[in-house]
Amino acid sequence: MVTPLVPGPAPRTPRTPRTRSVPPRTPSALPRNGALSVWPASTAPLADGDLAVGGVPLTELADRFGTPVYLLDEAEVRARCRAYRDAFPDAAVLYAAKAFLCRAMAHWAAEEGLGLDVCSAGELELAVTTGFPPEHIVLHGNAKSPYDLQAALRLGVGRIVIDSPSEIARLAVAVPEGGDHQKVMVRVAPGIAAGGHAKVRTGTDDQKFGLSLTDGSAHHAIARILDQPHLELVGLHCHLGSQITSAKPYLAAVRRMVGLLARVRDQHGVTLPELDLGGGHGIAYRPGEPVLDIAALGPRLRAELADSCAAAGLPVPRLIIEPGRAVVGPAGVALYRVLAVKRTGHRTFVAVDGGMSDNPRPALYGVRYAPRLVGRAATAPPVTATVAGRHCEAGDVLAGEAELPGDIRPGDLLAVPVAGAYHLSMASGYNLVGRPPVVAVADGGARLLIRRESLDDIRSRDVGL
Ligand SMILES: Cc1ncc(COP(=O)(O)O)c(C=O)c1O
Repeated sequence: MVTPLVPGPAPRTPRTPRTRSVPPRTPSALPRNGALSVWPASTAPLADGDLAVGGVPLTELADRFGTPVYLLDEAEVRARCRAYRDAFPDAAVLYAAKAFLCRAMAHWAAEEGLGLDVCSAGELELAVTTGFPPEHIVLHGNAKSPYDLQAALRLGVGRIVIDSPSEIARLAVAVPEGGDHQKVMVRVAPGIAAGGHAKVRTGTDDQKFGLSLTDGSAHHAIARILDQPHLELVGLHCHLGSQITSAKPYLAAVRRMVGLLARVRDQHGVTLPELDLGGGHGIAYRPGEPVLDIAALGPRLRAELADSCAAAGLPVPRLIIEPGRAVVGPAGVALYRVLAVKRTGHRTFVAVDGGMSDNPRPALYGVRYAPRLVGRAATAPPVTATVAGRHCEAGDVLAGEAELPGDIRPGDLLAVPVAGAYHLSMASGYNLVGRPPVVAVADGGARLLIRRESLDDIRSRDVGL
């Protein structure tokens, strides 16, 4: 009997009472549509062009914590976790920590009944040392270091997902003699192309993740794992890619993965009890962009899985999913101060006090955002502007073709919604600017989760001359 990952929602621990740092202003009750459709549900317009998120005015957040600053709407994160549990009541839902992790985020995920997907000893240790149950954690990685594997075994992670043939022997010898078997899964590349950009498509053979279904590498690895007395193969995994906005690739993946489960049963007499379909659920970064409908995906996946298993004569495996971006992305807002406005040729450049060191996504994937002026009412008609970062790199653009008021000027505050995922988790130390703080907003209060990286932090790592 395989211990299930994440048996159900954990009991809610009482929340630490927090002081109301900012007196709430009464937001005007506008429906969440149009320009605000990609903002957290709590977002409300205030007088003078300000916005409140989680009951906290953005201008006051900027004054109190400085800029750039990232805020996370705790209620939005929790609501998204619950939406997943509602849409996938029988599945284990693991939050993909690579999207964004800090201790509070790990607590929110645990309290809402989610497990965790991590891909390094760092993410794993942070989660476990803040109390996240290790048995509800899955470790990924196409190139796990010895340190990653040792940490996983020492802390007792629920599953390790094997991603290359050499990892099998490395892991098998690392499992302590006389200890428990380590539960593992195999990451399969099922030969399905899906995802919003070539750099985030991971379901095919021409990229670094997983073992090919098509050329037999996945099946070969499965056979080798089944021969290892210290490893217990509990299921198969695939992650097709990110920013997928249609259910179709997932349904195709179910069919192919069930085909492989049936082959394993036929050739080895083993019925694997789990199927992990990864994450990749698409969200809108700008109003009007398509979104993957999670509420519809759950029942469709369940039905496809039941049909495919019935056709193959297999019991239905426990489904596991690993959403990251769709849990935390829309809950985050980045706030920047405009430092310079320049008109060059036909272009208007609006340069802010952050950039590719806190959000490398536009430079990496050409992602487009919809920043908004906050803190004063716009008086001039909109212009199309390029919001540039402050870094010494011409490609340091945060938002190309942004619609901003024509009188945008230094000192203005710009807010970028959908900033919760793959910004700060991919942040760098470029130009020694220091990474921004993260502030949680909830019930009209704001509290610091991660402080701003200071020059002292940077200096303290620089230990030689
Ligand atoms: C194995 C795995 N699971 C889950 C995710 C989360 O993807 P997303 O944040 O797009 O949902 C990723 C992202 O790279 C991944 O590699």
